[in-house]
Amino acid sequence: MHRLGQIADSSNRPSKALRYGLAILIALLALVLRELLTPFVGKSNPYLTVWTAVVFSGWFCGLGPSILTALLGVTGVWYWFLPPFHSFALQEPKTSIAGIIGFLFFSGLIIVLGESQRRSLADRLMAEEQLRNAHDELERKVVERTADLNTANESLRELSGRLQQLRDEERREIARDLHDSVGQLLAAVGMNLAAVQNQADKLDSAGIRAATESVTLVEQISREIRTISHLLHPPLLDVAGLASALRWYVDGFSERSKIKVEMDIPTEFGRLSDEMEIAIFRMVQECITNIHRHSGGTAALIRVVEADHALVVEVQDYGKGIPIQKQLELTSSGRTGVGFRGMRERMRQLGGTLEIRSDGTGTIVRARLPLGLSATDSANPTVG
Ligand SMILES: Nc1ncnc2c1ncn2[C@@H]1O[C@H](COP(=O)(O)OP(=O)(O)O)[C@@H](O)[C@H]1O
Ligand SMILES: [Mg+2]
Repeated sequence: MHRLGQIADSSNRPSKALRYGLAILIALLALVLRELLTPFVGKSNPYLTVWTAVVFSGWFCGLGPSILTALLGVTGVWYWFLPPFHSFALQEPKTSIAGIIGFLFFSGLIIVLGESQRRSLADRLMAEEQLRNAHDELERKVVERTADLNTANESLRELSGRLQQLRDEERREIARDLHDSVGQLLAAVGMNLAAVQNQADKLDSAGIRAATESVTLVEQISREIRTISHLLHPPLLDVAGLASALRWYVDGFSERSKIKVEMDIPTEFGRLSDEMEIAIFRMVQECITNIHRHSGGTAALIRVVEADHALVVEVQDYGKGIPIQKQLELTSSGRTGVGFRGMRERMRQLGGTLEIRSDGTGTIVRARLPLGLSATDSANPTVG
């Protein structure tokens, strides 16, 4: 309120003394001017210039000063311009007093109008100031909330990145356990069964059949365990790198699904950071699974190229495309599509982006990853 008061005050008048000084000065000037006009207009319109002084004072100097201008003006006129001149006596009291009352009445009107104008201006300035303050406050709050949200988002992202990493590690461990312990145990069972088969002459026909069937079953389980373990975490990814792991995965997938997958990867594709290799592998895995589950197509293309210090990975199919409604949900709310969200998050963690283009003729999922930016990216790829 204090500040608002200042605004109202400072809107059109500087200081009280100055305003009163100005009011006196303008009244005197009006009287002098009236005197100077006498040779041209005579003494008949004594208030001629004083009106202007009151209007000016009422507008610029405020209530008190404008009353002072009016009173000084009327006194001056009385003394100098009402007959007998240079005296406060009145030669024609009736006309003169009527003139004085008329002048004071209309001056009052002018002053009241001027004052109300000034006040409404001050009110408007005050309201504008209040509005500005409220707006500033709101903006400050929005900035605060945005900062809070950003922090929350950042920690959520960190958490989801960490969860993704833990999931990868866990998969790697389960894969190793399955391969090493269950696999070894199955191998031992296989050897025992072979020993049993060697003693086949001591078994009846049912026993021989059971032993033979068991050997087949153990082989089948071993194969299954191997496939599951390798899909959980392809050992080739650690040993030979992304290109080999993708080739192995795609071959197995084509065989199982009857979807023909073409690969376009540079022949001298080098090693990337562990995180990058696993992220791209999982992205391709998810896309290929999506093609199998959702696209209705029978062919796919995987393309990896290096462009502008970035690695671009594309997975394309020629199926029916992602329904428009689904695409909108994927880009806006992000509620659906755990697969896409996971891919996008993985790419984001590596400073990259994920783009989905889809229409009635198929879908392209394109990831772009900057090369050499990742913290653990010790070995830059050598894409030939
Ligand atoms: N290649 C594709 N062709 C057609 N539709 C697809 C394709 N990939 C994804 N979709 C659609 O996008 C949705 C989201 O995919 P995704 O995030 O992987 O989730 P999910 O596979 O678990 O449904 C799918 O449910 C499907 O409707
Ligand atoms: Mg999916």
